[in-house]
Amino acid sequence: FVPKSLAGRKVLITAGPTFEPIDPVRGITNLSSGKMGYAIARAAREAGADVLLISGPTSLAAPYGVQRIDVLTARDMHAAVMARVAGQDAFIAVAAVADWRVANASEQKLKKDANGGMPALRFEQNPDILASVAALANKPYCVGFAAESENLLEYGRIKRERKGIPLLVGNIGPQTFGSDRNELVLFDEHGHVALPAADKHHLARQLITEIARRLPA
Ligand code: C5P
Repeated sequence: FVPKSLAGRKVLITAGPTFEPIDPVRGITNLSSGKMGYAIARAAREAGADVLLISGPTSLAAPYGVQRIDVLTARDMHAAVMARVAGQDAFIAVAAVADWRVANASEQKLKKDANGGMPALRFEQNPDILASVAALANKPYCVGFAAESENLLEYGRIKRERKGIPLLVGNIGPQTFGSDRNELVLFDEHGHVALPAADKHHLARQLITEIARRLPA
């Protein structure tokens, strides 16, 4: 870990899940705890970066010295990122963004039907935040994450190319959700390297070192 490796650099990070309302008291989300994204924000700050963390709902406190913006839905997160991406040196998309939102969310709480009828939810595709940033003409260095339950080496390589990004980080195994430990595989244009199982803070520092090495001057 190199303490000043990101001095003078601006880093934008998304973390946590998103929450897609069904009605004012219900919604759809996923099991992301935000721990990996917050650990990366902390490590980037420790490396000297000016860090902006755009976070879905989590129970975590913002790391020391990190500016946090709270959002709820994928569309909120997309808008917050696009409004602040200009001038960033790196964008690290760690959030587990909901792929779909409920198209017919209700303004009022849905009531139980006395006859046992169920609400019919319709879904719409959410914007792909990472792809939107990677498509910008003046884009920061983009890092994506992938959580796959199988064939990580093949899917990781393909996903990096499909997303059009220089670095993709694969989480090994779905058991990482909520855990303090993780195991990563980094995919770049040369192939892949593994970061063996460790505490998320340790892995975050290793990842920041790898990103700092790759950032264009
Ligand atoms: O395609 P997939 O969802 O597996 O890609 C995961 C990567 O893309 C993560 O870096 C995630 O933060 C990002 N992503 C995003 N917006 C979405 C979906 C995924 O930024 N709507």
